[in-house]
Amino acid sequence: MKIMVINGPNLNMLGIREKNIYGTKDYKDVCKYIVNEGEKRGHQVEIFQSNIEGEIINFIQKAYFEKYEGIVINPGAFTHYSYAIHDAIKGVDIPTIEVHLSNVHKREEFRKISVTAPACVGQIAGFGEVGYILAINALESM
Ligand code: DQA
Repeated sequence: MKIMVINGPNLNMLGIREKNIYGTKDYKDVCKYIVNEGEKRGHQVEIFQSNIEGEIINFIQKAYFEKYEGIVINPGAFTHYSYAIHDAIKGVDIPTIEVHLSNVHKREEFRKISVTAPACVGQIAGFGEVGYILAINALESM
């Protein structure tokens, strides 16, 4: 499958930000892990990251125009309030899985709300970078 992985704001700071929550592996190594695991399973995986909401919407639209078959998205904090990303996911009709490194349901109240998850097939949270691979497995099963 041709799979697009999209990471939102502050995820490029992995290995630096709140290591007790997000771990010590840096962003580059997390990306390598996802691409390698994806390739082992016979997929073409491309990863995009932005701290800017509009750019994330542009990535989702690119996934449509360039015929990606699945999207794995960690919208970071945009998860909790971006109706624009929700609409973008709905608009392209590509199976999309939401991933969070941390278990957002056992953290602050505001993180328990996802406005983007209802536009997705499902949400995976709390398994660190393994969550991205679980999401790829989920896309395979569709
Ligand atoms: C996150 C959880 C969000 O609440 C937070 O804003 C992030 C990372 C996660 O992967 O656990 O930036 O999406």
